[in-house]
Amino acid sequence: MAPDAPAPFALVARGPLAGSVEVPGDKSISHRALMLGALAVGRTAIDGLLEGEDVLATAAALRAMGATVARRGPGTWEVEGVGVGGLLQPETALDMGNSGTSTRLLMGLAASHDLLATFVGDASLSRRPMGRVAEPLERMGAEIRMAPGGRLPLTVRGLAPALPLTWQLPVPSAQVKTAILLAGLNACGTTSVLEPVPTRDHGERMLAAFGARITAEPLPDGGRAITVDGPAELRPQALRVPGDPSSAAFPLVAALLVPGSRVTIRGVGVNPTRDGLFRVLEAMGARLARSAPREVGGEPVADLVVEAGPLRATDVPPALAPAMIDEFPILFVACALAEGRSELRGLEELRVKESDRLAVMAEGLRAAGARVEERADGLVIEGTGGEPLPGGARIDPRLDHRIAMSFAVLSLACRAPLEVADSRPIATSFPGFLPLMEALGAEVVRPAAA
Ligand code: S3P
Repeated sequence: MAPDAPAPFALVARGPLAGSVEVPGDKSISHRALMLGALAVGRTAIDGLLEGEDVLATAAALRAMGATVARRGPGTWEVEGVGVGGLLQPETALDMGNSGTSTRLLMGLAASHDLLATFVGDASLSRRPMGRVAEPLERMGAEIRMAPGGRLPLTVRGLAPALPLTWQLPVPSAQVKTAILLAGLNACGTTSVLEPVPTRDHGERMLAAFGARITAEPLPDGGRAITVDGPAELRPQALRVPGDPSSAAFPLVAALLVPGSRVTIRGVGVNPTRDGLFRVLEAMGARLARSAPREVGGEPVADLVVEAGPLRATDVPPALAPAMIDEFPILFVACALAEGRSELRGLEELRVKESDRLAVMAEGLRAAGARVEERADGLVIEGTGGEPLPGGARIDPRLDHRIAMSFAVLSLACRAPLEVADSRPIATSFPGFLPLMEALGAEVVRPAAA
């Protein structure tokens, strides 16, 4: 449980970072493993589950809807599923904490069950748009009431079985896609989602492993059509969750920025719908190797070996953005230290993540002494060419785990430490982040709370 008072900290590099570490399980895959386990008939065993607050919110909600979800050891969990259509009405509101993925995916589950569920969340989640998922779920027969602006708190009254739907996603979103596919498991007929650009496909891979009738076809415009047949019957599985590439991104960029560093991060997911940051860093000149490629739980995995070195400015083609959508904050940090001007555009979606990541990153980078222009749809960053930034500022992470970790990493490349005003948000996705950075040789400084 996070302490009640803000916990300010700064990371400081006393020398090169070195060592071999593992990052916790993938957040997206962990949510999906618990949910599909809850919908299968029988016992699903999960190893390597991320025990971050977001995933624990999903576990608690599934328990409240009748599944048995038990922790057997660190990362080792069992889910006794109730079968598709078998979820029960929760007695109290489902507390989603900070987790957009829990909210949107569980709305999909609730939408095709005979129950009424209320979703509440923290201040950050309560600002995020839910209309994008409510609209297709309403077409499938659910009744959804939201706070003004399509936000939390909201209630879903499900329809069982739901009506099948064909839905063209206006904005690429794996959460919306997966919510519709999950609802489609308890629909009478075929539900299809057309995505303009491929987004993370963990849900599709896992649904196939659980025995759902699911297909994914490329579309002529570069998008993808995914269909699922309902009603589905899911078979319980034994799953292993690979390391989260979105978490690996932080020690990886830290190692690139701290001179003389050499770090190995073992067992990281490198699914092509998630590895955009690694590809962009390679194009920036990063010394980054993928060794021992293998498959874990139906997902491609590798050990990442990274060495510090100069980086060149970059841009990111729009089609690649979904494959690194959560990695832009840490990419902005890398760009601030690269040689040249990086123009990162077409990124309006970042304004509706756990915080407005364009505004918060622009403000924090500037406070650290970087030259940044904020545009409506992105940032333009003039890099230092490897020169450390002045630093010496205090950053409010605004309840956003990835903002907190991005500035923690940037502090390693500053002359004076950057204080992050609160480490608690980090627990949503990467509870062991600070100990891991210490294991690599960084120092965690805890200034007295103001
Ligand atoms: C996620 C999808 C992405 C991502 C989020 C996790 C998922 O969100 O930002 O952290 O697990 O499906 P969007 O679907 O809103 O792009």
